[in-house]
Amino acid sequence: MAIYALWNNKGGVRKSYLTFQIACEYARTHPQYKVLVLDMCPQANASSMLLGGVEKGERNLEEIMGSYPRKTIAGYINGRVLSPYVNPCIGAEYVLQIQPYNDAIPENIFLVSGDEDLEIQASRVAKACSPGPDDAWRIVHGWISDLIADIRRSWNIEDTTVFIDCNPSFTIYTELAMSASDRLIIPFSADGSSKRAVRAVLSLLYGRGNLLLCWQPSDTNEQLLRNRLQNGRCGNRPGNMGSMGRQFRTFLYSSFGTGRGTGASVASN
Ligand SMILES: Nc1ncnc2c1ncn2[C@@H]1O[C@H](COP(=O)(O)OP(=O)(O)O)[C@@H](O)[C@H]1O
Ligand SMILES: [Mg+2]
Repeated sequence: MAIYALWNNKGGVRKSYLTFQIACEYARTHPQYKVLVLDMCPQANASSMLLGGVEKGERNLEEIMGSYPRKTIAGYINGRVLSPYVNPCIGAEYVLQIQPYNDAIPENIFLVSGDEDLEIQASRVAKACSPGPDDAWRIVHGWISDLIADIRRSWNIEDTTVFIDCNPSFTIYTELAMSASDRLIIPFSADGSSKRAVRAVLSLLYGRGNLLLCWQPSDTNEQLLRNRLQNGRCGNRPGNMGSMGRQFRTFLYSSFGTGRGTGASVASN
C-alpha cells in the first residue's frame, strides 16, 4: 500500500477530480481496507466532490469548516503551528468518515478535509522551518507523515492507502505532501503549457538535469523516461527532501485524450 500525491503546479488538469475518482474506485474494489484522502488544497475541490458535489458538497464543507475545533487540514496545521517541533499526536481528531455526509460514497473512505484557511496559514508553516532546533526543517516537513501515522494508529493498522490532493503551485504545502508521499501522479493535458508545467514539476523535484529537459510528453517509452530521470542531476528533492529518506516514484498521467500514461521510478537520495 502506498501514499500517492496528485500534483501538477498547473490548475485545471483534473488533480482533484482524479483524486476523487481513484479514491472511490480504490475503496470500491478494496472494501476490506480503509482508504484515506488528504486534501492539501485550499480550494478543497476534492473534499467538495466527496462530500456530495455542487450544492450538497459545498454545504457539507461549510458545516465542517464551521465546526469547533475545526475538523479540517487547517485545524491540524493550526495544532502543529502551536507545537511545531514536539508531535502532539492530534492527527486522528481531524479525520472524518464520508458516508454520513454522502451515502453514495463507499463506507471505507475517510477524509481530512481541505480548508480555505490553509492560504493564510502558509507563511506560519514556512516560518516554522527555520527557527527552533537544528532539524526544524525536517520536523516540519514530517507533519503530514505524522498526521498519517496518527490516523493509522487510531485505526490500529500499520498500513493504509492514502491519496493526497495538492494545490496547483509549489508551496510549503506541496513540500509537506511530497515529503509524506511514496508516489507522485502528475495529471496533465495535451498542450504546450502542460508540457512546460510537467517539466517544471520534474525540475522542482529532481533538478534541472540536461537530459530531463529533453523530455517530451510524446516520450511514452517507459524505459527511456526512466533512464532520463535517473541520469538527471539531483535537485531540490534529493538535496532537501531526500533527507526524509523515502523512495519516491513518479507517474505521469494524461487526463485527456487517449490517456497515454507512462511511469518512471527514481530513488530520492
Ligand atoms: N470528468 C469531467 N468532466 C467534465 N468536467 C470536468 C471533469 N472533471 C473535472 N472537470 C472540470 O474540470 C475543471 C478542473 O478540474 P479539477 O479536478 O478541479 O482540476 P485541478 O484540481 O487540477 O485544478 C473543473 O472545473 C471541473 O469541474
Ligand atoms: Mg484541485
